[in-house]
Amino acid sequence: MAGSNPSQQHASTGGGLGGGPCAGPPRSGTGPGSTSAREAAARVVPAATSSPLVGSAQPGGTQADAAPGVPLLDLGRQYASIQDEVEAAVLRVLRSGQYVLGPDCRALEQELAAYTQCRHAVACASGTDALLLALMALGIRPGDEVLLPSFTFFATAGAVARLGAVPVFVDIEPDSFGMDPTRASEAVTPATKAVIPVHLYGQCATLEPILALAASQGLAVVEDAAQALGALYRGRPAGGWGDVGCYSFYPTKNLGGMGDGGMLCTQRADLADKLQILRVHGMRQRYYHEAVGINSRLDTLQAAVLRVKLAYLEAWTAARIRAAARYAALLAPLEREGLLILPRELPDRRHVWNQYVIRIPGGKRDALRAFLQERKVSTEVYYPVPLHLQACFADLGYRPGSLPETERAAAEVLALPIFAEITEAEQECVAACIAAFFGRTAQGVPRPKFLDRPAQRSVQDGPAASR
Ligand SMILES: Cc1ncc(COP(=O)(O)O)c(C=O)c1O
Repeated sequence: MAGSNPSQQHASTGGGLGGGPCAGPPRSGTGPGSTSAREAAARVVPAATSSPLVGSAQPGGTQADAAPGVPLLDLGRQYASIQDEVEAAVLRVLRSGQYVLGPDCRALEQELAAYTQCRHAVACASGTDALLLALMALGIRPGDEVLLPSFTFFATAGAVARLGAVPVFVDIEPDSFGMDPTRASEAVTPATKAVIPVHLYGQCATLEPILALAASQGLAVVEDAAQALGALYRGRPAGGWGDVGCYSFYPTKNLGGMGDGGMLCTQRADLADKLQILRVHGMRQRYYHEAVGINSRLDTLQAAVLRVKLAYLEAWTAARIRAAARYAALLAPLEREGLLILPRELPDRRHVWNQYVIRIPGGKRDALRAFLQERKVSTEVYYPVPLHLQACFADLGYRPGSLPETERAAAEVLALPIFAEITEAEQECVAACIAAFFGRTAQGVPRPKFLDRPAQRSVQDGPAASR
């Protein structure tokens, strides 16, 4: 599972080189030092050390030709920008003595319901639990078939399998990376009970034909909007279209907590009621169990932090959109030459760029990734092994070739660094390195001097990862 090993995850604060392309961002006086994406949220590390993914001045070097370093994600920079508010909120909760659910959680539910234009929101302990709870509330049972893409994070399929239901993997559209509605309609059988469109990387799947299919076949729709809080489809938020939408507050998400957290949004009062009790062992009244539920309560601390961050989400999303436009401008000439394929915001959708994922055709993706890693530009592959080819689903009978678009995407995708605070210089560095790999220069970026020196390998460089 990408991201399961914290030591392989790097999200860091800047190296403080200042100035020219490929230098790190200005170091904030208040932010914590480098840390990994998962660790940053689990514990804010006040370390002074610099991540191997952050540029550091070379002995005798100048700022302009310093070795590059661009982290995939830098939670420290975000934290530094809201530190006082977050710490005040955390302190307030610590002093309150109420640590599970509570008023902050209820307030967050209301705020998320408003943000997603849903009547009800129910908080839970993770995006994974949100999916599991949604399927439980919809009455998915052993043997039921559930349609979902294979090109997604494991949790989407794990939730189905944990209920004894059968994941039926559907191929994707190459441009949205979401479930192909035509392939979905071909996969329906009398046992099909639900469909889970996943809004991957921050852009909605092609929802309307999927919703029409679900309506005609009597299927429940669970939207996996874990990566897409704030994304819009025909002006309406991701997660608010189906029976229930599931969100994750994993730290690398656009609205990330400082630990795990999740939310379910729905227009249906009956489902909201079931979800409320399923997340607390099926209890409405304490110690009286109407159903067999799970323990999936949201920590009050997470709710308080998320409420602080929610106020910034639109501004952060706007910054991600600007960063995506910048990459598009920098890399356009390489796309015109057919060297790579840039991600697109599709008509009638707002992409919120949880990930900026390019495609490298011709079997060169891994070589490019290694080239970038040698230059301390951090990238990730979401996801290298599609779910239909995972060992745990071998008995479902899929083979290489079963889902061609999914398998092609898995071989070609490469996620570039993107986060609200990424600097223009960092993006120019990323683009310059990609261009150099292909023997070109990036649009408007002179070839930096460091590219003419042999790359310096960091022994600690490992795959940076979020999810
Ligand atoms: C598409 C998708 N679904 C579900 C999840 C599960 O969310 P969580 O990590 O909060 O359990 C994630 C999170 O990484 C995800 O990216």
